Amino acid sequence: MGSWIKVCETKTLNNGDMIDFDHDEKKILISKVKNKIYATDRICTHAYADLSTGFVNEDERTVTCPLHMSRFNLENGLPENLPAEESLKTYNTELRDGWVYVFI
Ligand code: FES
Repeated sequence: MGSWIKVCETKTLNNGDMIDFDHDEKKILISKVKNKIYATDRICTHAYADLSTGFVNEDERTVTCPLHMSRFNLENGLPENLPAEESLKTYNTELRDGWVYVFI
């Protein structure tokens, strides 16, 4: 059972931005693409790279791992190319009163 966690003010995120968010043991990546906010695990499923040091492709809605360049779909967490084969966990997001919330 999870709960909604307040993350940041909506106005602090521009399209193409990524921010780190840690909650308990979880390392979360918050990203904004084409006015939609996504939340996924932040650590690459291949070899423990931090995806917040990679880059977002807004047209593909992906984040690219900086270490071996696997791209992950921000909607469903699926890797779109090798070497990563496992999906990132994704989290629901919601905007309330100017704040971003993530269900963790
Ligand atoms: S650590 Fe991310 S693709 Fe290898």
